[in-house]
Amino acid sequence: MHSPFLILISALGYFLFFMFPLDKGAPFIPNSNRKIQSLLNILIEMKDKYKFQKAIDLGSGDGRIAIALTKEGFYCDGVELNKLLYKRSVGKIQKSGLGDKCKFFNEDFFKINLNKYDLIVLWQSPQIMSKLSTKLKNELVKGTLICSYYFKIPHLDEMHKKDNWHIYEM
Ligand SMILES: C[S@@+](CC[C@H](N)C(=O)[O-])C[C@H]1O[C@@H](n2cnc3c(N)ncnc32)[C@H](O)[C@@H]1O
Repeated sequence: MHSPFLILISALGYFLFFMFPLDKGAPFIPNSNRKIQSLLNILIEMKDKYKFQKAIDLGSGDGRIAIALTKEGFYCDGVELNKLLYKRSVGKIQKSGLGDKCKFFNEDFFKINLNKYDLIVLWQSPQIMSKLSTKLKNELVKGTLICSYYFKIPHLDEMHKKDNWHIYEM
């Protein structure tokens, strides 16, 4: 018979693996309001030059970035691997009444094609950045803006950096 301790450890291991799929990307750490506001300020400054017809947050967590961008007038989707976080995001966007401008997908972002997006936001782990860089180069159209929080994206030339947001243009 299994001891309660072993069952607890197994449950914890399963929970951690579910919450933090490190081989697929960064674990869930929500961005602060201040960092989201600084991203919004950067994008508002660039709005004259870039059209920003459709944005996506890669690993959208509880949806706070996608929803903040949508409230600011952007069309922004979010893709999130974790089902609980995805459901939370869907609940929030339904409540806000902005569901026609913001969609969430419960998916691995490596499995979706990003070619219809002209603004990419992400906060991902350095371990997957090289693979992600190849994907971005293969799929994004010229002129797409990428905003990566904290970590640089290899093999892309950084255009601008502010408040730990690294900005790239394809
Ligand atoms: C550091 S958090 C950022 C959350 C949110 N973007 C924010 O800034 O508040 C990273 C998120 O990416 C998600 N994630 C990691 N790898 C993923 C993948 N391959 N596909 C979709 N989501 C992924 C995690 O579940 C986590 O919620």
